[in-house]
Amino acid sequence: MNERAVIETNDLTCRFGSFTAVDHLTITVPRGIIYGFIGSNGSGKSTTIRMLCGLLRPTEGWARVLGYDTAQAPDQVKQRIGYMSQKFSLYHDLTCEENLAFYAGLYGLTVAAQKTRMAEVLNLMLLTDKRPVLAGGLSGGQRQRLALGCAILHHPDLLILDEPTSAVDPTSRRMFWNLLASLAAGGTSLLVTTHFMDEAEHCDRIGFLKDGRLIANGSPAALKADLPARLITLDYASPTEAGQALQDSGIPYLDAYVFGRQYHVLLAPETDIGSRLCWNPAELTMEDVFIYHDCQQKEVRS
Ligand SMILES: Nc1ncnc2c1ncn2[C@@H]1O[C@H](COP(=O)(O)OP(=O)(O)OP(=O)(O)O)[C@@H](O)[C@H]1O
Ligand SMILES: [Mg+2]
Repeated sequence: MNERAVIETNDLTCRFGSFTAVDHLTITVPRGIIYGFIGSNGSGKSTTIRMLCGLLRPTEGWARVLGYDTAQAPDQVKQRIGYMSQKFSLYHDLTCEENLAFYAGLYGLTVAAQKTRMAEVLNLMLLTDKRPVLAGGLSGGQRQRLALGCAILHHPDLLILDEPTSAVDPTSRRMFWNLLASLAAGGTSLLVTTHFMDEAEHCDRIGFLKDGRLIANGSPAALKADLPARLITLDYASPTEAGQALQDSGIPYLDAYVFGRQYHVLLAPETDIGSRLCWNPAELTMEDVFIYHDCQQKEVRS
């Protein structure tokens, strides 16, 4: 057991009948970092999280969370982590305060501790004035912050958040990531899944899942530096013209896609473009890294 790890898995596997949702996943998440789990829909992120939280038994392999084997000691794991599911498990017909009180009771906080901690959490989540409001009457961003508040009531060492920002606006996303950063600065370790690549940039380390397998792993900077590809943008009046020019040039490329108003082309590093295209070199983003890996078939172990 690695004492500095908050999560350790070895060949963690989950099968549903003959379908393998998570396939021999081996990862280590060191204490004190924000670990981002990324991968396309159905790549196995939520299934992995359900195994890490002790909600689903692995078919094969094991996971240790805060030192506890998730299959052998699921209740210890559930009591010690904070978990926010993809659907925010809130009771819409209860007020903010009542939702917090419900979770405080689940986590075994004494009545006296509940009062102080709930006031602290409401303040931290900027929800003090929403205390008597039904959760069902909150905006998406407020509901998301209430769900985070419920998950941190018991000062968990590890927070596991499954797509916490999928249903909120950019301002709420930014506010939410500021909250996550302050929790991380206070010593909380975080594992978070996201489809937003700007959020992936905020993570200390990324695990990239594809078809249930870990296919890339490292810091955002390392993932970009290690990509065996370079990026160019094509300088044409429209993406359609750019695409046509690329086809006409006959230049071999790994991938080409419209990126906002630009046309991005990923090339093998040694590709000679010459003067066959109007192009500019560009910096790789995490979105390019995502698209590159999503088109590749390989596996790594961390
Ligand atoms: N209980 C289940 N029974 C059968 N198949 C399941 C079950 N739960 C998940 N799956 C399948 O396992 C695969 C992985 O699903 P999972 O929800 O882990 O993906 P995900 O990476 O979280 O996707 P998303 O980004 O859409 O949330 C999917 O093909 C899904 O249909
Ligand atoms: Mg999911």
